[in-house]
Amino acid sequence: MKISLLLQLSYITVLVVFLISSNISPVYGQCLGDEKALLLKLKKSLTFDSSKSTKLGRWDLNTDCCLWPGVSCDQEGHVLVLDLDDEVITSGVPEFIANFTKLTTLSLRNCKLRGSFPSKIIQVQTLQELYLSFNVNLTGTLPEFSQKSALREVVLSYTGFTGSLSDSIANLQNLTRLDLAGCNFSGDIPSKMGNLTDLVHLDLSFNSFTGSIPFFHKAKKLNYIDLSNNNGPFSSTQTQLAVLLSLPSLQFLSVQNSRLSGVIHEFSNASSSVLDTLDLSNNHLNGSIPRSIFQLKSLSELVLSSNSFNGTINLEAISRLPRLNILDLSYNNLRVVSNSTSFPSPAGMHSLRLASCQLQKFPDLKNLSFLLELDLSNNKIRGGIPNWVWKVTNLNLSHNLLESLEKPYYMFTSPLSIDLSSNRIKGNPPFLPPDRDDTYYRTSRGGSVTFISLANNEFTGSIPSFIYNLDHLKFLDMSNNTFNNKIPSCLFQKADRFVVLNLGRNKLSGTIPDTFPLNCSLRTLDLSSNILEGKVPRSLLRCEPLEVLNIGNNKIEDTFPCMLNYFSNLHVLVLRSNKFHGNLQCPIANQTWSSIQIIDLAYNNFSGAMLPQYFSNLKGMMQSRNIDPGEHYLHVDSLYQDKVTLTIKGLTLEYVKILVVLTSIDFSCNNFQGEIPETLGDLKSLIHVNFSHNALTGRIPKALGKLTQLESLDFSVNHLSGRIPDELVSLTFLAFLNLSFNQLSGRIPSGNQFQTFSADSFEGNIGLCNFPLNTTCSETKVNGSSQPNNHSEHEIDGKYISFSLGSSMAFGIVTWLLLHSQRYNELVDGLLLRILGQPKRRRKNKNQRRSRKIRL
Ligand SMILES: *[C@@H]1O[C@H](CO)[C@@H](O)[C@H](O)[C@H]1NC(C)=O
Ligand SMILES: *[C@@H]1O[C@H](CO)[C@@H](O)[C@H](O)[C@H]1NC(C)=O
Ligand SMILES: *[C@@H]1O[C@H](CO)[C@@H](O)[C@H](O)[C@H]1NC(C)=O
Ligand SMILES: *[C@@H]1O[C@H](CO)[C@@H](O)[C@H](O)[C@H]1NC(C)=O
Ligand SMILES: *[C@@H]1O[C@H](CO)[C@@H](O)[C@H](O)[C@H]1NC(C)=O
Ligand SMILES: *[C@@H]1O[C@H](CO)[C@@H](O)[C@H](O)[C@H]1NC(C)=O
Ligand SMILES: *[C@@H]1O[C@H](CO)[C@@H](O)[C@H](O)[C@H]1NC(C)=O
Ligand SMILES: *[C@@H]1O[C@H](CO)[C@@H](O)[C@H](O)[C@H]1NC(C)=O
Ligand SMILES: *[C@@H]1O[C@H](CO)[C@@H](O)[C@H](O)[C@H]1NC(C)=O
Ligand SMILES: *[C@@H]1O[C@H](CO)[C@@H](O)[C@H](O)[C@H]1NC(C)=O
Ligand SMILES: *[C@@H]1O[C@H](CO)[C@@H](O)[C@H](O)[C@H]1NC(C)=O
Ligand SMILES: *[C@@H]1O[C@H](CO)[C@@H](O)[C@H](O)[C@H]1NC(C)=O
Repeated sequence: MKISLLLQLSYITVLVVFLISSNISPVYGQCLGDEKALLLKLKKSLTFDSSKSTKLGRWDLNTDCCLWPGVSCDQEGHVLVLDLDDEVITSGVPEFIANFTKLTTLSLRNCKLRGSFPSKIIQVQTLQELYLSFNVNLTGTLPEFSQKSALREVVLSYTGFTGSLSDSIANLQNLTRLDLAGCNFSGDIPSKMGNLTDLVHLDLSFNSFTGSIPFFHKAKKLNYIDLSNNNGPFSSTQTQLAVLLSLPSLQFLSVQNSRLSGVIHEFSNASSSVLDTLDLSNNHLNGSIPRSIFQLKSLSELVLSSNSFNGTINLEAISRLPRLNILDLSYNNLRVVSNSTSFPSPAGMHSLRLASCQLQKFPDLKNLSFLLELDLSNNKIRGGIPNWVWKVTNLNLSHNLLESLEKPYYMFTSPLSIDLSSNRIKGNPPFLPPDRDDTYYRTSRGGSVTFISLANNEFTGSIPSFIYNLDHLKFLDMSNNTFNNKIPSCLFQKADRFVVLNLGRNKLSGTIPDTFPLNCSLRTLDLSSNILEGKVPRSLLRCEPLEVLNIGNNKIEDTFPCMLNYFSNLHVLVLRSNKFHGNLQCPIANQTWSSIQIIDLAYNNFSGAMLPQYFSNLKGMMQSRNIDPGEHYLHVDSLYQDKVTLTIKGLTLEYVKILVVLTSIDFSCNNFQGEIPETLGDLKSLIHVNFSHNALTGRIPKALGKLTQLESLDFSVNHLSGRIPDELVSLTFLAFLNLSFNQLSGRIPSGNQFQTFSADSFEGNIGLCNFPLNTTCSETKVNGSSQPNNHSEHEIDGKYISFSLGSSMAFGIVTWLLLHSQRYNELVDGLLLRILGQPKRRRKNKNQRRSRKIRL
């Protein structure tokens, strides 16, 4: 070991000496006068920061220009190499760089260049190497290439180059490296590229390339192909991928996340392959996984997740891959089986992801000493959780049929992240030793448990005390179990490190401890659906970062907690179904909620007039929001995402990810009085409003016509009177309207969505007429005179209930499906779907994915 280290060191020393000397020595001739003039002209035309410059700024008029930093010449003094990498040049590139008659290498990486790159330079016939990467504001397109072009390396990654690749790329017979990653190229990859014989490195990732993947069968030196993260669609015939996989020099192949479809055939020469990394995840590949893949002896990373591969894989197959570190077969239609008792997997395996693989029993991985990540979620594994799993750093066993934890629980080290959610585990969880604070522990582990989810199990008993000893826990989800007794006050004392604390849907009783610490870092606090009583604790005020507060469905008896007005980051507030009372007036009412999206105060005993300022401070609902890709959801963490259950249009929906654009106000079933303030009309991004079952009077404000995003509006069972304003006709997204059981009168407006509402939306009013009601409008009715009510008083409640049930069937529900990429690169990718119809999950397994990251 020591000897080889010494050898390596001496090798490095020799290399360094060589590099230093080579930097000085290859300059032979004196630089030619006109080339020097051209260089000076170049320096003058570029805008650069001379204080930071290590090259341009040192070009001294009085010295040989072949000695200038960044310049190399040939024997005659012609400039061969111009290397201005990392110079801060904030201008464009002058076209006359093309005037250097012998230039072979132009390197302008990471220069903050802007403007359009002159394609004439790319066509310089002596140019062999062009490096422009990391200049995001530099635009350009690739010119037509002639057969005379000497280009060998073209590296344009992370620039603003656009356009497509033309067939003329195949004229670059000497091309060894083409790197266009992270640009804005589109169009098909020319199949003629398959004629390039010298190609070694091809990176077209993060573009919008489409089409068929070239065969590259002549590229015997091809070592690296990255076509990942293109929009696609890419297709491959039965043989294309197989040909790629047979390439004798290929070490890296990724077509991840590029809508690649097709099947992979068995391929030849697998046993002599040098392929190290194969990532075809997140595509539409189908058929079975070819057996040849399990003969690729050099493989260290095999990622085939999230495709439609089917068939059965015997885990024994991977024991033939001695170098395998990472295996991911998750989310296909595969059945993974293992018939041996002790899993003979490669000893160096550190990441095994077999989510949604129809596993029925725990593979025995006792002997894998380096396992950092184990994802066996979404399988059908029954029985006990073996005790060796606690050595895994990132453990996901969620969505199985597990029932118990095998004893003894002793753990030498504990995982960083434990997800046992959605199983059938009973009893009180006794595991996890306290964080050890000794040096050995810290140096060997580098951390301690930060994430625990025990949600959706059958855990009982008090909240286990081991939790208070975990000093680095940030995410704790114990929701939907039957934990009982009081919430221990020391749990909240730890809230200066918690980010998420979810104790919802349990049987916790007593009061909410008033022990939130200074520097409380909670962003999500969910205590909903317990039997908590008493008041909202005042120390909650210390949790300034709070974004989601859900204490709905308890027995909390309090006035409106005015401290909430201090939470400027608040997105979601649910006080639903408690015993809150009084009005919503606060002495500090002018604090604005600039991010607020969801307010649910339904089923309480709030009263008093609905004041204009209740709505005028909800700045977060005033801007119409555009959906900004990549920022769809509130608080999407790689480990946890917020959920909230909303009752909309009579249906209870669980929003697993809270869309940044989802906005809702539910004040239903309280005792609010007075008129609906015009200020409600300023909340332009509102999507759902429910004020039903209150004692509201007066007219429906015309200003509601400004709520152009509105999809549901429920003012039923109040005392509203007057006409329905014609302005509501402009609400073209309105899919649900309920104005029943008020004292409205006059003509029902017609047009747009109003043609789609049924009589149910208007029944129980005194004098409404016109479609969809059967009564036609006479003069008197138009003026709002009262008509005998069709329904006797005691009928009303029953009617309303059956109406709301019926409407849930009849009306289109707009919901967002919550698909979630599980790439370990943390690109949390949400897919936004608006679906008319019952909310349903499209592909269950995909929904339940977690994006996870190994944190070391
Ligand atoms: C570059 O060469 C062109 C002719 O090929 C000439 O017109 C132009 O002036 C030259 N530019 C510089 C800066 O020398
Ligand atoms: C790119 O240009 C934009 C607009 O001029 C500027 O805000 C941004 O800082 C530039 N980015 C870089 C990396 O130079
Ligand atoms: C390609 O490389 C070969 C060998 O280095 C060289 O002889 C040939 O001139 C190059 N082709 C072009 C078009 O420059
Ligand atoms: C990408 O190219 C398309 C045209 O092909 C253009 O509309 C779009 O603005 C470009 N995007 C970026 C980020 O440059
Ligand atoms: C490859 O080159 C050969 C001749 O050099 C030509 O016949 C063939 O059509 C080319 N193939 C492609 C896909 O361009
Ligand atoms: C397989 O390897 C042999 C010998 O190395 C070679 O001749 C043959 O072309 C290879 N087959 C493929 C499909 O690459
Ligand atoms: C693969 O999917 C395509 C398109 O959905 C289908 O036509 C084909 O039959 C499938 N092949 C296999 C082997 O499943
Ligand atoms: C895979 O799916 C295809 C198409 O649905 C089917 O024809 C084939 O029998 C399946 N293969 C296995 C092994 O289940
Ligand atoms: C596992 O099954 C394969 C065939 O499916 C068989 O060859 C092998 O011997 C079995 N291994 C054990 C340990 O039973
Ligand atoms: C609660 O957990 C049970 C299983 O223990 C599950 O069936 C149910 O759907 C869960 N409820 C929610 C709201 O997640
Ligand atoms: C709060 O707003 C009201 C009306 O919007 C205003 O009269 C009052 O001065 C404001 N109070 C503070 C403290 O800014
Ligand atoms: C309207 O009249 C039709 C037929 O006369 C009847 O079936 C329907 O129930 C009536 N609708 C209402 C809301 O009264």
